[in-house]
Amino acid sequence: MLIRADGAALRVDAPAKLNLFLEVLGSRVDGFHELETLMVTISLHDTLRFTEEPEPAIRLRCHGGVGVDVSVPAGDDNLVVKAAKLLQDRTGTRRGVTIDLWKRIPMSAGLAGGSTDAAAALLALDRLWELDLASEELLSLAAELGSDVAFFVRGFPAAICRGRGEKIAAVERPLELAVVVARPASGLSTAEVFGHCQVSARPRSAQPLVEALVNGRIASARSLFHNALQKTATTLNQEVADLITRIDRHPVLATAMTGSGSACFGLCPTARSARAVARTLRAGGVPWARALRTGV
Ligand code: C5P
Repeated sequence: MLIRADGAALRVDAPAKLNLFLEVLGSRVDGFHELETLMVTISLHDTLRFTEEPEPAIRLRCHGGVGVDVSVPAGDDNLVVKAAKLLQDRTGTRRGVTIDLWKRIPMSAGLAGGSTDAAAALLALDRLWELDLASEELLSLAAELGSDVAFFVRGFPAAICRGRGEKIAAVERPLELAVVVARPASGLSTAEVFGHCQVSARPRSAQPLVEALVNGRIASARSLFHNALQKTATTLNQEVADLITRIDRHPVLATAMTGSGSACFGLCPTARSARAVARTLRAGGVPWARALRTGV
């Protein structure tokens, strides 16, 4: 995540992610599930600006983004505020901050908007407050905040994530793909989807998909895309099933849900075809659809 100086403040573009593959390997005694997932960043960002304050207070101001309703919680429930408080608690710093957040990533969508914002806060405040934490410390704080936060702190454009999602192995070769990403009107709660999901009886591995994609065998990768949460999500939310059917009507190479939904994506042969699919979906009443690139 690139942190830029903006006068005395710091500015960060925090990317969303897609899960191109997600397997549920087991349920754990801590209430979480053991996963294997292929995560890629996408060319859709929230923007955050961090301005130091003389008092130790933490203030968050949420601003609208294009096509996103901004009923983002601006109080202590926001993961950005939790990240800043966690840093204050663990380091004892008395420095404060005002955080401006321009929201573009749809919420409750499986795109990890809250998690990427929290990662941006950890990285930017480490610099703004001159904490100089080791990367292992930042990764451990990230895992406390949420299962997806460490992926963004690591900053790999593509990685296979295991454990709760916090054990990260980079995919060494670029995974730059054209995708259309769309979200239906309603979202899904991650906890609810995981709460109803089934552990896979015959777990699949992400490796064949990674190999097909890095070797450019994209057209034959269709059957390798997999999301073990998709069946549960479509049962809980009919809009997800409808959206997948609608994306599949187009000449896409593969279609799947991302994370715990409700957003879904279609892999497209070119950026131009992704733009055409996004336009048609929007014209057909899908509330949010964008042509994006992965691995950036
Ligand atoms: O870690 P995060 O806050 O994103 O998780 C939200 C909820 O999703 C958890 O409370 C848990 O119910 C579920 N979850 C899970 N297994 C994971 C990640 C999340 O069961 N690996």
